[in-house]
This record gives sequence, structure tokens and C-alpha cells, in this order.
Amino acid sequence: MKVLVIGKGGREHALCWKLKQSPRVRTVYCAPGNAGTALDAHNISLEAGDTRALTQFAKREGVHLTVVGPEEPLTNGIVDAFQREGLRAFGPRRDAAELEGSKVFAKELMRQAGIPTADYRIFHSAPDAEHYVLSREVSLVVRSKGRSTLRHTLLCRTASETLEAIDRIMDPREQLGPGVQVEIEERGQRRIFSTAAEARDYVLGRPLGMVIKADGLAAGKGVSVCDNLRQALEAIDQIMVRRIFGKAGDRLIIEERLDGQEASILALTDGRTIVPLESSQDHKRAFDHDEGPNTGGMGAYSPAPIVTPELMDQVEREILVPVVHALKRARRPFRGALYAGLMLTNQGPKVLEFNVRLGDPECQAVLMRLKSDLFEALDAVVDERLDTVTLEWDPRPAVTVVMASEGYPGHYERARVINNLEEAERMPGVKVFHAGTALRTDPALGRDDRIVTDGGRVLDVTALGDTLADAKARAYEAVRAIRFAGAWYRRDIGNRALRAARP
Ligand code: AMP
Ligand code: GLY
Repeated sequence: MKVLVIGKGGREHALCWKLKQSPRVRTVYCAPGNAGTALDAHNISLEAGDTRALTQFAKREGVHLTVVGPEEPLTNGIVDAFQREGLRAFGPRRDAAELEGSKVFAKELMRQAGIPTADYRIFHSAPDAEHYVLSREVSLVVRSKGRSTLRHTLLCRTASETLEAIDRIMDPREQLGPGVQVEIEERGQRRIFSTAAEARDYVLGRPLGMVIKADGLAAGKGVSVCDNLRQALEAIDQIMVRRIFGKAGDRLIIEERLDGQEASILALTDGRTIVPLESSQDHKRAFDHDEGPNTGGMGAYSPAPIVTPELMDQVEREILVPVVHALKRARRPFRGALYAGLMLTNQGPKVLEFNVRLGDPECQAVLMRLKSDLFEALDAVVDERLDTVTLEWDPRPAVTVVMASEGYPGHYERARVINNLEEAERMPGVKVFHAGTALRTDPALGRDDRIVTDGGRVLDVTALGDTLADAKARAYEAVRAIRFAGAWYRRDIGNRALRAARP
């Protein structure tokens, strides 16, 4: 059989590598792929968004199954297009992919289905959202100080009342002479400000827990976890005024900030049967100790010890089954890979987001442990006979360390030559999945086809080990062997799980 994988990241490389192992698969194509998929599959130079050319290719080559990796083509309806041409494609159709494509849709579906998630409000305009943020309770007392004869003591419940009070006191039109100051009292503590700007700044710095999310796809960057009012207003401004995510910011959600540990649950479903994959967890923040900006994921490990069998049961019962049912009731049956990003709160697991595809880099760690034939499983999803499939897993843990380009998740350079990949891959239990790499001919180096960096996340160095500590040690040994200018990586991938395992 011929299989086509669509995408060009580490997830797609892992899919190609695993699908190729199936005795039923003769050829794996990857469109457009990267330097790693060029080794484990045949790259086709068609972009994931080029639906027409992809369906034509699949028809011409007699591709039996197409596996769509990323969310964007799914939310654009690539599976619908394949089906219209009588082709078989793994992944949800457009209307079901809206579960990831619109956070508003996902939230409303969860509310209707009683699926635990953070409380939220939906906004269609910046002023409404700002008004909501500023109506947050702050409970401050504002007084005028100085030589003024006019004394104000204003009890301000909300931030907007406080800002108004400051304006009234400091505004010269209120006939308070020069030298007037404003005093703000918060829980018995008094602070004096000489200018309205300083006083306003103080109010906007009041801590609050809010999360602001652009409705549509924003390459994982549309979520701001805000610590204070200023950050919340800034996030609204970015999404709805400066529109840095374009149409994805037509609507936004403000939701309650949840506390706890995060976990990712991936599952295959054909709309009737749900087969969860082994648990995994990624590290989203850029720097060690979970600091710095959010990224697509800097590493992952599987299994995640925090996901006990009891928790997995609860997630199936309270989250996976209800969401698959709700989609079916909404006449948007879901077939494909379902990803639930969870916060494990004191009140149980709550959904942060649903994705309609495998997680990246979680998928790399998870597929490393899959012993069964992935092709059989994905093929069964497309035929709605997932009930005939059981998945077998290697009990050994896997760790994936992402090697990134200097500057990621901000601006970074490309085309840096990568060395020692083969040496790393020869290490026992190690597989290097390529994320952002390309093949370049460099006459200056006098050789053909050098592997160079071509993205922010460059390599997903994955290792199996007898224990998690062992898997981690092997992955990092391979990472240290690989060289490219500006390479960097987190040094603490898996530590969270190692800490959890300690008594
Ligand atoms: P999302 O794309 O919705 O998964 O959000 C990206 C990241 O933002 C998550 O992995 C969490 O770390 C964080 N996040 C999202 N929603 C919340 C929330 N309600 N409370 C706390 N953190 C959140
Ligand atoms: N690693 C997070 C994601 O794939 O969305």
C-alpha cells in the first residue's frame, strides 16, 4: 500500500517512520516533508495547503491512505476534499475540526455537554472586553492629598471606578491646585502618587488571574496567561485592535485561570470507539524550570506518571466520551486523533483546549513506544472499525528533547549546517526526528545535500530507556553529540516526572 503523510514537522517525521514499519505499507510519501522525512519516506514538493494538487497526486499514485498531521489543513477542510474525490484520509472533516479551529465553538460545545473546563466569557469587540477586564474587583480606597481644600475619599470596587477616581482627583479642572497628590489604600497599606500616570500604572499592575485567547488558529501563540490588568488589556489590544492574528481575533475568550499540573491525553477515535494512546506530557515554556514564553513544545515524555489509570478512566468518562458524543449529536462526527490538553485541578481534570491532531512533540515520544502497526490503527479509524484494534506498548519510557534555533520562539536564522546526526542515531534506543530541517546543496562545502536548520524547532531527539531517568540520559547524550550554530535546548525535560516519581 501507498501512504501519504501531509506536513513537515517532527510529528510528521515520526508518523512516516512508524508507518513505514508496517508490513502492509510499501511506500510512504511526505508532502512537503523535511530532511528527516527524506530519509524515512519520499518527499513530494507540495505544500500542506495545496489541497487540489495533493488530491491529484493521491489519485495519480493510487495512495491508499493519506494522514494529515497539522491542524490548519484539517480546519480548512482537506479531509472533505479528499473524500469528495473518493480518497481515504485520516483526520476529522472541517466541521469537526472546528473543535480546534474555534475556541468559542469548543467552549460552547463543552458547556452544552457538561465537560469540565474553565469558566469563560466570549467577546466580539475590544471595548466590551476591556470593560469586562476593568470591571474586575480591586477594592481600593482613593483619597486626595496635599494642599487641596477639597477632600475626596472614594471607595472603589472595580478597576474602572479606581481609574475614574484618580482622574477626578488629579484633573486640574476639578480646581484642586498644584501639588495635589493621590493616595491609594489597599488592605490598610497606603501609597502616595504625585501624577495620575503613576497612580494609573499602580492600578493596572494589580494582580489578577485571567487567560485571554484569540478564537481562531494562531500557531499556539493566541493564548495569554495574564498576571495583571495591564497584561490583560495588552492581550486584548494585540488580538482585537492591532489584530496580530488577523481573522483569528474576530472573537476572543476571557477565561478563569486554572491552577495545577498539565497533562496531554491523545486518543484515536472513529466516532464510535475511543482508543486512548499512552499518556504523555510536553514542556511548553521556552526555558528551564518552565520559565519564559510559550512555545509549540520544547520536549515531552511518555508515560506521564501523573496520569494514573484512575485519572485516565475519569478523563475518558468525563471528557473524551462526552465530547465525541456531543460532536456526533451536532452532526459533526469526529474521526481522527483527538488531543485533550488538561489542567489537573483540585476539582479534577479540566479541559484547557482540544486539538484535532496528534500533539507535537508528544507524538514523537508516544510513537516511539508503540509496538502495534500504526497503519492498521489509522486505517481502521477511516473505516470506522477501530473496535477491532488493540494497541500494544513498549513499557519503557521515552523522552523527546527539542533542539531549537537561537532566538526561537522569536526571530531566528535558518540554513545552519547540522553535524553529527548519524553519530547520534547510532546510540542505542535513540531516534532523531527532524522538525525544522532541509536539504541544501552548498558548493562552498564541496558536498551535496547538507542537512541544515529550517525552522525554530529543529530536531526532536528521542530515546527509550529502561527508566525515565535512563531515557532522559540517553536523549541528552545524543543531543550533546549533535552540533549546529546557535543550537539550544532545555536541560530539564522529564524532571517534572522524575520529581513526581520520588516518594
Ligand atoms: P492552549 O493553547 O489553550 O492549550 O493554551 C496554551 C497554554 O496556556 C496551556 O498549555 C496552559 O499552560 C495555558 N493556559 C491555557 N488556558 C489556561 C487556563 N484557563 N488557566 C491556566 N493556564 C491556561
Ligand atoms: N505540544 C502541544 C501541541 O501540539 O499543541
